[in-house]
Amino acid sequence: MKKELESLKKYVEKALDNIGDAAAFDTLYNELFSRKHGKFTALMKNMKELSDDMRKEVGQVANDVRKEIDHLFQEKGDELTAVEMANLAEREKVDVTQPLLPPKMKGHLSPITQVQHDLADLFISMGFLVEDGPELESDFYNFEALNIAKDHPARDSQDTFFIDGQPTWVMRTHTSNVQVRAMREYGAPLRMIGPGRCFRNEATDARHEHTFYQLEGLVVDKGITMAHMKGVIEAMAKHLYGEDTEVRFRPKFYPFVEPGVNGEVTCFLCKGEGCNVCKKTGWMEIFGAGMVHPNVLKAGGVDPEEYSGFAFGMGLNRLVMLKYGIEDVRHFLSGDVRFSTQF
Ligand code: PHE
Repeated sequence: MKKELESLKKYVEKALDNIGDAAAFDTLYNELFSRKHGKFTALMKNMKELSDDMRKEVGQVANDVRKEIDHLFQEKGDELTAVEMANLAEREKVDVTQPLLPPKMKGHLSPITQVQHDLADLFISMGFLVEDGPELESDFYNFEALNIAKDHPARDSQDTFFIDGQPTWVMRTHTSNVQVRAMREYGAPLRMIGPGRCFRNEATDARHEHTFYQLEGLVVDKGITMAHMKGVIEAMAKHLYGEDTEVRFRPKFYPFVEPGVNGEVTCFLCKGEGCNVCKKTGWMEIFGAGMVHPNVLKAGGVDPEEYSGFAFGMGLNRLVMLKYGIEDVRHFLSGDVRFSTQF
């Protein structure tokens, strides 16, 4: 029996040498130690038949052989694990020197976003903050604080989207809602613009859209006059349409300014001669503006005895349509890249 144990050990040594993967390793282990058919297990069972003395002696040998076999399996196991880890590392290798593949970009900035960014840069260079107010707005900031009382007819002209069951919440009808918000936040003196989305309950057609973009401007300081307003608006108009562009103001009523004006610039196409784009007038109407009404300053926590200011607001859709000759305002919200990638 001692011989059998020794030869079993030799057999294991050889067999393990030829094993290259975990499955064969497990098979050999079972061949030796499985409860029913294991070769080593069988030898151990036979020990019962030995005399007490013999069993002691053989038992000692069996113990040693078992230890040695275990050791052999341990070594082989470690070796297989190391190989497995190396293979894994090889498979997962990352080549950090490989150049980046160019991203597949299909999107494109809307021409409105581009003009918005361009104007933001211009105003930042003149020391303005860029603010964006909420699109879902309280009746207070959209109307009340702008000197538009509950029953004021100006509310009708702004076809408002009201929120169901929420009489005090509206989708903002203009970017003017940022005026009082900004004054309350920063106080005076203040220079800011607020570009963003606005909403009106319009039946859509080539010239009307329920969701559109405006850019608001507000300056509050000591001694601000209409001359400052004209200077800033002229700088903006020349930036947009070229150095020879002129600006003119004509009186117009807005509840939140006094006096209020309707601002026009010389037509960038015919330079004032009169053409189809400007309906033969030579002028294009692009913004509303005026000196901030004392009630609006008060709503913003600014003392109208000490400070004055001007505000303007302009629709970006129309401005971009004129700039690029876009014939239908509905293209802007179409989400069609064939449209936006042209600009
Ligand atoms: N909020 C006005 C509109 O939507 C524009 C405006 C802004 C007029 C600021 C005067 C001053 O038509």
